[in-house]
This record gives sequence, structure tokens and C-alpha cells, in this order.
Amino acid sequence: MTDRPLRHATASSTALTPLQRLTRFTQDMGTLTDRAVIAERILVELCDATTSHQGALYLLDREHDRYDLVMTVDLQNTTAALPSFASTHALIQSLAHKHHFLSVADVADIPPITPELADTLRAAQSTLAVPLLNKARLIAFVLLGFPADRLLDHADGRDLLTALAQSGANALDSILAHDDLHQSQTLMRRTDRLRSLEIIAGGFAHEIRNPLTSIKTFIQLAPERKDDTEFIHDFSRIVLDDVHRIERLIQEILDYARYMEPKLTDEDLNEIVTSCLYFIEVKADSKRIKIEKELASELPRVMLDRQQIKQVLLNLLLNAIDAMGDGGGRLLVRTHRITKPGATVWTQIEIEDSGPGISKANLEHIFDPFFTTKHTSGEHAGTGLGLTIVHQIIQEHHGEIQVESTEGVGTTFSVNLPALPID
Ligand SMILES: Nc1ncnc2c1ncn2[C@@H]1O[C@H](COP(=O)(O)OP(=O)(O)OP(=O)(O)O)[C@@H](O)[C@H]1O
Ligand SMILES: [Mg+2]
Repeated sequence: MTDRPLRHATASSTALTPLQRLTRFTQDMGTLTDRAVIAERILVELCDATTSHQGALYLLDREHDRYDLVMTVDLQNTTAALPSFASTHALIQSLAHKHHFLSVADVADIPPITPELADTLRAAQSTLAVPLLNKARLIAFVLLGFPADRLLDHADGRDLLTALAQSGANALDSILAHDDLHQSQTLMRRTDRLRSLEIIAGGFAHEIRNPLTSIKTFIQLAPERKDDTEFIHDFSRIVLDDVHRIERLIQEILDYARYMEPKLTDEDLNEIVTSCLYFIEVKADSKRIKIEKELASELPRVMLDRQQIKQVLLNLLLNAIDAMGDGGGRLLVRTHRITKPGATVWTQIEIEDSGPGISKANLEHIFDPFFTTKHTSGEHAGTGLGLTIVHQIIQEHHGEIQVESTEGVGTTFSVNLPALPID
């Protein structure tokens, strides 16, 4: 759990029947989604129901195995709330294992508490501790100040408090579950990334071995062949190409390794596609490649990192141009709005070429780091990192990339990105 500022809520007091109170509260718990708002609502409700002057809500922080103070209500400015309780603290142990309220006063049906616990409650200027449990797990608890215990004199009051606490615990538990999911997704993405960096490091060593060998050979031979101008001329060109290749590899790896959290802005994909096509027009013209575009007229807007998505599209467009070679061809770029099961709206960009296509065996490897069929030596040889980077960026955008290819016919790459909800 990330650290959040402590919030101070204000209690309200409305005259409601217990049933009205419970119904309204349960409805709110079902609709609220923000952790701070839920915590505030729970605390205000419990203070209100028990007519307490003050209260403090502590929420489980699983990562640090403790309960942190996240919200207080203090009508008399007297709270001495502790910032957190370790899960080993006697108060937590008692709330987590006994599953009932702890009260400093003698209350029917509630076992008396130990003098040590009574001291803890008094030190926090509280008279009552209410556990918020879900499936026997202590999610949170509330400490309430004077005169909190009065409600507990009647069985109805105790039942109401139990029901309110249960409803609050359910809502907080789903927030904690959502945080856990988010955390594990981030962790998985980082692990994936580390794994591919490991492959990249291995691949890099392999890739630079050949150019290094040629540079080394040149340096070894140069002293004895220094008068052979043809040798020096030809070999120095090869060596320069090799140096360029190593420089390019280093640059691409640096680009990939730099962890770039996308900076998302609300964008029009058609406009980004058009600006990328403008960049490649001259190159396509020189290779007699005809560019066609079919852009959807009502394309929903997308949250994306403009530079990164441009990088994706340029990589795909340049791959298509490379594939068609010098013999000319057709490059078709389309955008669509698509609806997926569950009625979620996505945008799709398709880049279709009339190149030679990709064999089934190669298709499995095109996203692998260093997989390339552009082996011509020199500055313009492929590094095989283009599609690895494309894949990484699309993943960071929670999008999808697919490829369909038929040998002798052509290849189509489709990039799907979730659209912004229409409000
Ligand atoms: N549109 C396409 N048609 C045919 N083959 C393709 C196409 N796009 C990619 N490929 C194949 O996938 C391989 C990997 O592409 P990728 O973009 O990762 O690397 P590259 O283009 O070879 O090198 P780099 O992008 O680093 O200059 C290419 O070498 C090519 O064999
Ligand atoms: Mg490429």
C-alpha cells in the first residue's frame, strides 16, 4: 500500500432508524470506489451510530504487516491516535482472533478486556474498538471515543454495529484486492522486462562479436599492409560500417533499456497515423510504393504516449517498406473502431503490405530480440530490435499487436488500443 495523507472527516448526525441507517450505508458501500472516500464514510457512520465524539480508522497494510491510521474524526480536538499498530500488537491479536468488539466498560455479551488492552484504548482516548473483518481476516478497525459504549447496551445496537462493520469490511476488502492485483501486474511486467533484457544482453554479445573480429583483424594486419592502399581503403570501409553497426545496436539497446513509463495524453489516432505517413512518403515514393489510407471518420480518442506510438507506427511502416524492396508495391493503412465482448470499445490500426510475407517458422520469432532477416552488413542492416520495442510499448499501453502473413501475398500488422470511455 502506498502512503496516503491522513484525512480528517467531520461527523454528521442525522436521526435515522437502524434499518434506514444500515440500508443507506450498505448502498453507499456498494457504489463507492475510492479508498479514502470509503474510509471516511465508514468512520463517519460508526461515529454517528455510536454518537462518539471522536474516532480513528486503521487499515491493513499487508506489505508492511501493520495497520495504519488513515482517517480520524475529532469533534473535540482531543484525539491522541497512534499512527500505526504492528500486527503483533496485543490489540490487533485480540481483534483478529476474538472477532468481537473490545470495550473498556462492562457490556453485556462482550467479555471483559485485559487491563493491558484497556490501557491501550485509553491511551488512544477510545472506549471501544470495532473490528472490520472479512472472511475471518482483520481488514481494518475503528477506535471510537466517549460515549461510544452506550449503543452496546442493547442487543439491537450491537447487531447494528456488527452489520455496519461487516458492510464496511467488504468494501475495504475489495479495494485491497484491487491494489494487490495492480501490484502483481506491475511486478509481472517488470519481471518480463528483466527477462527480455537478459536475452538482449546475451544477444548483444553475440551480435557484436563479428564486427569486433573484423575490427581486430584490421588492426592486426594494418602495420604490415600499411602500404597496400587497396587493402587499407577497402578494409577501412568495412571497419567503419562495423563501428556504425555497433553504435546503432548500443543506441537501440539504450532506448529499450530506459524504462519509459508512457506519458499518456488524450489523442486522435488518425492524426498520428497521418503524421507518420508524411515522414515515410519520400522513402516510399523512391521505391515506387503506393500509400493508401482509409481512416475511420468517427474514431474514438485514445489515451496514449504520442512519441511512443509514433515510434511503433514508424517501425511497422518501415518494416513494410523494407519487405517490399525496390520492386514497388502497395502499403495500406486503415483505422477502425472495434467493439469487444463486454461492449468495450477499442481502436485498431492495420498496416498491410504487398511484400513477400513471413514464413511460418519466422513468424514465431519476429518479436524476439535480435531476430532479423536483414543481414546485409553495414550501417543499414537490421538489429532485430524494432518489433521487440514495438511489442514492449504496446504492452505498456495495455494494447494488443497481431500479425497475419501469407507468403507471396503480404503481411498485415494490427495494433489495438483501448479507447477512452465516452462520458
Ligand atoms: N512487414 C513485414 N514483411 C515481412 N517481414 C517482416 C515484416 N515486418 C517484420 N518482418 C520480419 O521480422 C524481422 C524482425 O523485424 P524487426 O523490426 O524486429 O527487425 P528488423 O527490421 O530486421 O531490424 P530493425 O528494425 O532493428 O532495423 C525482420 O527482419 C523481417 O524478417
Ligand atoms: Mg524493423
